[in-house]
Amino acid sequence: MATTEQGADLVVIGGGVVGLSVAWRACVRGMRAVVLEAGEVAHGASHHAAGMIAPVAEVAPGEEPLLELGLRSAGLYPGFIAALREDAGGAEVGYTRCGTLMVARGADEAEALERERMLREQRGLTVERLAPSEARRREPALAPALRAALDLPDDHAVDPRLLCAALATAIERRGGTVREHTPAVAVHAGGVRLGDGSGVLTGAVVVATGAAAGSLKGVGEFVPSRPVKGQIMRLHDPEGPGLLTRVVRFPPTYVVPRGDGRYVIGGTSEERGLDTTVTAGAALEMLREAAELVPGISELVLDEFTAGIRPGTPDNLPAIGPASVPGVWWATGHYRGGVLLAPATAELLVGAMCGDPPDVLLAPFDPARLWSLLR
Ligand code: GLY
Repeated sequence: MATTEQGADLVVIGGGVVGLSVAWRACVRGMRAVVLEAGEVAHGASHHAAGMIAPVAEVAPGEEPLLELGLRSAGLYPGFIAALREDAGGAEVGYTRCGTLMVARGADEAEALERERMLREQRGLTVERLAPSEARRREPALAPALRAALDLPDDHAVDPRLLCAALATAIERRGGTVREHTPAVAVHAGGVRLGDGSGVLTGAVVVATGAAAGSLKGVGEFVPSRPVKGQIMRLHDPEGPGLLTRVVRFPPTYVVPRGDGRYVIGGTSEERGLDTTVTAGAALEMLREAAELVPGISELVLDEFTAGIRPGTPDNLPAIGPASVPGVWWATGHYRGGVLLAPATAELLVGAMCGDPPDVLLAPFDPARLWSLLR
């Protein structure tokens, strides 16, 4: 007969970058956290993510709260990584303070460049407008076909797969537990029931299921999830590092160097439900775009071409805060920004759970804003 197993101060349901970050920060604050992952840790959106830490990059007009949260999170990143590496026994996480070149070829891209420049200047962020010749001096692999460029020295990148592995290690080393292949089926007063009929006793639950929201019972009103497919490529240079040192962005495409000769080219945004097929058309388009700007990309070896599902919400803002039932919290719906937003989400949510003074930054992400949409 299945029995109730261990007890925990906090159960986090969902082992992606957000859930793992919440669990780790909770452990740092002295809680015993258990992560329950239905499949393998970080095999959802986190597995496919490129890992850009670029708070201004993907914020649409009117999404000021997201920009604020992204800026806070980007600011937290250096300390988050340093503490994580210490807790994870020095684990490498591929955090490169590489900076980003945003480049434009035609009028549309130049417009996006101008918007990014103004947003940054309004906020006192560093941005340098470059002539094409200067952009090519800084990144010699760029093609001559440039119209304009911005140097964004504060936009960096991390390797999400290494980051998640380090988070899992850090949780365990802090006395927490990460359980794979352990689906949670229901939350009830004082605990979580698992798929095999056993349970975990806990005082608090965080639901961080992302696009894999499933049919978890007992969490009150649900945060609606809108799946947004992203096709993404991983490549490496047999000659080693050096083709690019910075992230190169020409929306909607980006090339992220890992600093060791590996590169990521992303990513499509497609509303096709939970479809994760990869298509010839997307491959053609991404490689054509990328090789037009960085011709040396044609010489790279293609290692992976995959598709992941980003967890969107109806308003594209994450849901971070209390559920409609006591003792349960949401940390989900991070859409295109799970990696960027994980440190701030974890800090602010764990702070709220511990009774820290409310941080106004969290207010726009209150999950309750979404519940009326369900009725
Ligand atoms: N943040 C990059 C992407 O979602 O493609």
